[in-house]
Amino acid sequence: MTENTYFTPEELQHMPRHIACIMDGNGRWAKKRGLPRTAGHKEGSETFRRAAEFMSDIGVEYFTVYAFSTENWKRPAEEVSVIMGLLEKYLREAISSMVEKNIRLNFFGDVSVLPKKMQKLIAETTELSRKCSGLTVNVCLNYGGRQEIARAARMAAERVQAGEIKAEEITHEYLCGLMYSADMPDPDLIIRPGGELRVSNFLLWQSAYSEYYFTDKLWPDMDAPAFAEAIRAFWHRNRRFGGL
Ligand code: IPE
Ligand code: IPE
Ligand code: MG
Repeated sequence: MTENTYFTPEELQHMPRHIACIMDGNGRWAKKRGLPRTAGHKEGSETFRRAAEFMSDIGVEYFTVYAFSTENWKRPAEEVSVIMGLLEKYLREAISSMVEKNIRLNFFGDVSVLPKKMQKLIAETTELSRKCSGLTVNVCLNYGGRQEIARAARMAAERVQAGEIKAEEITHEYLCGLMYSADMPDPDLIIRPGGELRVSNFLLWQSAYSEYYFTDKLWPDMDAPAFAEAIRAFWHRNRRFGGL
């Protein structure tokens, strides 16, 4: 995936700053090929790597992906364990390749319930990539939008209880700073492949004025032209933010 094939230099000046993706449809992608669902997750993790490189090439600043939701624990233990294994493998590879590509990795979600070795990898990856100044990739792992908002409310309440702030100081700007996405712009464009027309608890707080792009393509089939199409559709939206 290289930039110049898909966008003109002029177009590259107008990239959305923050793109988010709900990486959905892995299971169906595999089923269509007579493969186990887990084969879809494997392909999907490759798609994630290619997508991140594409976003980096075209100059997007933030790329947030939904990898595992707080509700995905409801799946059979075997599938959950394969997904976790893939995430671990990706993290190991990421540590070596990411820094050279100048990509910074963050994690959104409650990672404290993940296996200890994964928590260690997550901490190492985050730390190692802190000095990277290129694309920021946020991986949502054991993430739920409602849980994120509840966590922020809890943190604010604790600060009030400790006498650090007054309840009146809890404005929406204040709460922004308590989200995983503190200091980052809200997503401009949220892409959901997989054909479902719903949000599934993704970035509920941050998506107040995001543009959604839904496609029937399955996540593992999302290639550079598919992302370029989503970005072109975004350019045709008229964002009013409540104004005229
Ligand atoms: C998304 O693909 C990956 C995760 C939720 C971890 P799915 O596994 O939901 O694939 P479908 O929607 O069943 O096809
Ligand atoms: C959303 O996909 C979560 C991720 C892609 C990580 P799901 O497959 O879990 O969403 P639903 O269940 O169809 O809403
Ligand atoms: Mg799904």
